[in-house]
Amino acid sequence: MPNDVDVSRLRQEILAKVGEYYRLAHASQGQNAPFVPGETFVNYGGRVYDERELQAGVEAILDFWLTDGPRAEAFSDDLEAYLGLKHILTVNSGSSGNLVAMTTLRSAQLDRPLQAGDEVITPAATFPTTVAPIVQNGLIPVFVDCKVGTYNIDVDLLEAGLSDRTRAVFVPHILGNPVEMDAVMAFAAAHGLYVIEDTCDALGSVYDGKPCGTFGHLATFSFYPAHHITTGEGGAVGTNDSRLHHIAHTIRDWGRDCWCDYRSDRNGECGHRFDWEIPGLGEPYDHRYYFTEIGYNLKMTDVQAAIGIPQIAKLESFVAARKRNFRVLYEGLLPYQDRLILPKWSPKADPAWFAFTLAVPETAPFTRRELNDYLKERKIETRYLFAGNILHQPGYANIPHRVATPLTETDRVLKSALFIGVYPGMDDARLDYMLQAFEDFLA
Ligand SMILES: Cc1ncc(COP(=O)(O)O)c(C=O)c1O
Repeated sequence: MPNDVDVSRLRQEILAKVGEYYRLAHASQGQNAPFVPGETFVNYGGRVYDERELQAGVEAILDFWLTDGPRAEAFSDDLEAYLGLKHILTVNSGSSGNLVAMTTLRSAQLDRPLQAGDEVITPAATFPTTVAPIVQNGLIPVFVDCKVGTYNIDVDLLEAGLSDRTRAVFVPHILGNPVEMDAVMAFAAAHGLYVIEDTCDALGSVYDGKPCGTFGHLATFSFYPAHHITTGEGGAVGTNDSRLHHIAHTIRDWGRDCWCDYRSDRNGECGHRFDWEIPGLGEPYDHRYYFTEIGYNLKMTDVQAAIGIPQIAKLESFVAARKRNFRVLYEGLLPYQDRLILPKWSPKADPAWFAFTLAVPETAPFTRRELNDYLKERKIETRYLFAGNILHQPGYANIPHRVATPLTETDRVLKSALFIGVYPGMDDARLDYMLQAFEDFLA
């Protein structure tokens, strides 16, 4: 018989050792190593963690639940509390979140589901897996232009995207910069449209006093390491609508209708597990094998969720650090506005920046490539802005789509934008180093 006292003691010893291991093997290694100008690579993003994430992961392994379990539920509860949303469904990536959200709106269980060939308005300057689930669901993405500076969909162009097949708007808050959601929601309400907010880059961003991800019918989140919190791979779908949540849950879990938590009771808390009527069968069937959707398996594991719990406890401080780092870069680059287009945001927005985006104006005496090569030489990590214009990406060249407005600004993003980091792992030494590099390049 296992002795509970011994088990508990051993567990505490293991966790203490994990803490010790963190301090030896992680605390001053890799990204945590002292910064040596010109030698240390300045990442644009990365995991920011301490012994608590390692201990949480090890505890989850000791419990060995492995699949979606009690920690996924606790992590969902924390996210619901942080966002003030009724439901959070954890998934294995932000891309899976987008797939689940879009597929949910195709469900025959809805009164007015989206039908094949219906249109979804979205920007072409975007991350590919915002567009992919529109196409994968037999829907038509309708592209309207964005704005250089905010890099978000231009909400003044939404009406131009409208047709008698328009059923939804799918808006990403690009790089943490909130879309003008009052305009999006007013447009959607006027035309009876669904709204999905891709909040993968914007956990912690606020628009008009309300968290991004709480305006639309559904919202998605990513916990990939460069994002505001990390579970390694991971994501979530949020909603205040219990019906949409149930359908999203079903789509995530193989298409299974059953919603019971079987952890405490093998027969399910509903008490009717084996009483479900399948039409035409003449006898009840097991609700656990009762499928109301053509689904996937996109669940987050308990080990991933375990790591998310100490991460979300740090979210406020991460958001504050991102804002501060952004401000330092913004103020430092203000003198170069004639040669660099600095980020812009709505007066109603309080962005928890994912990154710091710059565009090189056509009038600049250098190209984006030259700036990028210079930063690369100085070991400062850059990224171009996702797909730029998704229609220029080979995988998307032949998708069924409609271009509703000229994509002039989108093509400027494709040709001139790049971003650098503001993540909480950046300290004053790195920020000063980056500003010095810009000064050296631009002087
Ligand atoms: C706007 C946006 N949507 C979706 C995703 C996909 O998230 P994931 O990498 O977790 O699949 C990303 C990824 O960074 C993103 O930036």
